[in-house]
Amino acid sequence: MNEFKNKVIEEDCLRICDCLPKESYDLVYLDPPFFSGKEQQSKTRDGMRHYSFSDRWPRLSEYADFMGSRIEAVRPLLKSTGSIVVHCDSSANFVLRSILEDIFGAENFRSEIVWRYKRWSNSQRSPIPSHQTLFSYSVTESYKYNQIYGGYSATTNVDQILQSRARDSRGKSVYARDSNGVIVGSGGKKGVPLSDVWDIPFLNPKAKERVGYPTQKPLVLLDRIVRLLTDPGDWVLDPFCGSGTTLVAAKLLGRNFTGVDQSSVAVSLSRERLGNPVVTESNLMKMGEESYLNADRDALKILAGLPLVPVQRNKGIDALLKGEADGDPVLIRVQRPFETLGDSIGALRKASLKKQFSFLVVVATEASLVPYDQEENDLIVVDSTAKVIESLLRRRTRSELRLFESQKHA
Ligand SMILES: C[S@@+](CC[C@H](N)C(=O)[O-])C[C@H]1O[C@@H](n2cnc3c(N)ncnc32)[C@H](O)[C@@H]1O
Repeated sequence: MNEFKNKVIEEDCLRICDCLPKESYDLVYLDPPFFSGKEQQSKTRDGMRHYSFSDRWPRLSEYADFMGSRIEAVRPLLKSTGSIVVHCDSSANFVLRSILEDIFGAENFRSEIVWRYKRWSNSQRSPIPSHQTLFSYSVTESYKYNQIYGGYSATTNVDQILQSRARDSRGKSVYARDSNGVIVGSGGKKGVPLSDVWDIPFLNPKAKERVGYPTQKPLVLLDRIVRLLTDPGDWVLDPFCGSGTTLVAAKLLGRNFTGVDQSSVAVSLSRERLGNPVVTESNLMKMGEESYLNADRDALKILAGLPLVPVQRNKGIDALLKGEADGDPVLIRVQRPFETLGDSIGALRKASLKKQFSFLVVVATEASLVPYDQEENDLIVVDSTAKVIESLLRRRTRSELRLFESQKHA
């Protein structure tokens, strides 16, 4: 086994499988070509190195033969407690699932994980593809699985966290009670067990860990797979290792690994990465998507009813009006309490520098001693509904008072 310990081998993975030791790996993760019909290409950020691999196949049946023979070849390498994870997308997931069913058996299907991410692209005549699939099968019933727990959702009530559940005589889920009818505590739940939909950001073009290899997967994704299905000291095999993401994750988690790729360039790159692993910290992963939703809620309440897009992560602009005026967007800001109208306009002007817009709209919410009368063609200042009502009432009350005074003196 030592011969293959922490090694990256340049070879067709079908050929090397004959040489690798049987029943020795705890996890085999495959991220093969997906049947995209493309030559997958990309380059490093400095543009100095180009990488590519071919994902062109004359027919689906040839792809199915290619994958079938390789999945069959890796099965004997797995321990009886081991698992296989096959990464794919909608191009040929249906083929891979049926190959896996044949080789591992339907009874050993463990999960279909959906890796979901946000991606910007121009909408075609179908929804934007925003997920890939990972099929997981085990060799036997007694497979290794290290549960991962996440935080509770905002809708979880405190009783669900503190109390145990049981089934009543009709099979309905109820809070468990002891023989005296007293509710049984949960004994400290660890959180919510991992679901099969994983929100993990796609590697962004500026991510530190990006090495410029086409279809490079994020380390966070591989870190999760390796943790879930192996323990420290276990063995991980990646027969299509590309830039070596799985190997880096395994190394950082104290697992042994073997990587295989038929491309010499991929093998050198993997070795380079293993010599100096770089991990990108993802704020989105650390703090969750909610933390990015920081548009001012009070400001948005004042704009309620308008067709608008709330703007997140911008100190000067609260919203964009849906649709455009004169072909460009309209940017809106609501005056904050204790902010002068001039400051509010200044904040919106500053935020709109270098941005395309037709009009800036400031909604005035505070009574001002000095009316804003500077003429600016691209600026509209309007009073909030509350401010309009308040001033109408004030005027009306004053005239009623005058009427009362005049009647008194008549
Ligand atoms: C999708 S990429 C893997 C990307 C990798 N997971 C990463 O994060 O960088 C697929 C890789 O499979 C390799 N490959 C294609 N056919 C192969 C074969 N028969 N044996 C071994 N590697 C192969 C390609 O060279 C390519 O590097």
